Amino acid sequence: MSNLVVIGQGYVGLPMALRAAEAGHSVIGLDLNEGVVSQLNAGTSHIDDVTNDDLARGMAAGYTATLDPAVISNAEVVVVCVPTPLSEDGGPDLRAVEATGRVIGEHVRTGTLCILESTTYPGTTEEVFAPLVAKGGQELGKELFVAFSPERIDPGNQTYGVKNTPKVVGGLTTACTKKAAEFYASFIDTVISAKGAKEAEMAKLLENTFRHVNIALVNEMVRFSQDLDIDLWDAIDAAETKPFGYMAFRPGPGVGGHCIPVDPSYLSHRVKAKLGYAFRMVELAEEINHAAPRYVCERARDLLNDKRIAVRGSKILLVGVSYKANISDVRESPAIPIANTLEGWGAELSYFDPNVASWSSTRSSEKVSQLDQLDQRLAEFDLVILLQAHSEVDPEVITNGATMILDTRAVLPRNPKITRL
Ligand SMILES: NC(=O)c1ccc[n+]([C@@H]2O[C@H](COP(=O)([O-])OP(=O)(O)OC[C@H]3O[C@@H](n4cnc5c(N)ncnc54)[C@H](O)[C@@H]3O)[C@@H](O)[C@H]2O)c1
Repeated sequence: MSNLVVIGQGYVGLPMALRAAEAGHSVIGLDLNEGVVSQLNAGTSHIDDVTNDDLARGMAAGYTATLDPAVISNAEVVVVCVPTPLSEDGGPDLRAVEATGRVIGEHVRTGTLCILESTTYPGTTEEVFAPLVAKGGQELGKELFVAFSPERIDPGNQTYGVKNTPKVVGGLTTACTKKAAEFYASFIDTVISAKGAKEAEMAKLLENTFRHVNIALVNEMVRFSQDLDIDLWDAIDAAETKPFGYMAFRPGPGVGGHCIPVDPSYLSHRVKAKLGYAFRMVELAEEINHAAPRYVCERARDLLNDKRIAVRGSKILLVGVSYKANISDVRESPAIPIANTLEGWGAELSYFDPNVASWSSTRSSEKVSQLDQLDQRLAEFDLVILLQAHSEVDPEVITNGATMILDTRAVLPRNPKITRL
């Protein structure tokens, strides 16, 4: 078991740090956010999937959080889980990875294994991360070990967590891969060694691009299915009975979060920057998924129109404003462009989301008014739009209480007052 420092104590870094601590590693979580560090050391988790009990168990096993990068000098393993958002021009923003690489380079001791987990384009570990980490000129695979291991965490997933989600690793040398695989095998059930860091980086982007493209496929099909009077959900249910060669994806209000809308852009940016041509599948998927929130608004407008209600002045309730069900994360949520458009058209918006205490669109600085529970007030809305089927959303309550519903997730029973996307 090793002295481990996990840099970045967010959605990715905290669960893995606690799992490693419970498995017997001596773990320090390093972050630059003072609030996060003091909250963690006080025993309060800021991450949906980590309960205070999980944190307490990790702390009992020796986990602590710190702001002090000097802890790296005592580490045998350093794992980096810092954000990799998109920059203003749509390209990769690697500032946090670079800053972390520099800090590691200043403190790292000989023999340390340094693993990058942040999602990024193929080549980052070799071209950006390793030169900063090994700035002392250490020989990789002998004096320092550098690898990439994609993070596959699925927030809100009750079945797959850190321990039972297979982990891919790829090092800059065979010795780096071997050392990284041995490290993860100490607390993760299945570890897969890729050929190298680039292949491990590509595996992650392939997984998320696959998802992005397939969501776009059904989000495009739902539009013409509607015009052809075909129930696409029924067709998907039927197709799903094929036991091989098909995987079901279902239409929705658009993609959100910090992975699916972001990661494929890393790959297309890299292809364009390095090779000069477009990754057309990703560009098309982006165009279609980006247009999905607008399509929800157009369907909402049509439903109100059928009832001779103008959108301007209509009362609309958005149910579920996070980017997926049963989590509180609202980053890149399709609810935001939907709210922006409906507000722009003059609708009076409210929202219900038991996981999101306060929320606003980006169009207006005013908070959207919140319904604290689904009750008789449902009937006061001209339209209810179901965006995320949180477990607290009782299909019966919403079906009985609302006068008209646009169900973007197809989770409510078939009923004359409910329209699917
Ligand atoms: N959240 C997910 O579902 C998910 C899934 C797979 C992969 N990823 C990838 O994992 C990486 C981390 O994502 P996340 O969701 O955990 O982010 P997050 O924003 O939840 O957490 C990142 C943490 O890193 C800290 N940080 C930023 N810069 C730092 C620095 N220079 N030094 C120390 N700490 C620093 C921040 O204060 C924050 O606490 C990203 O590359 C993301 O794309 C995320």
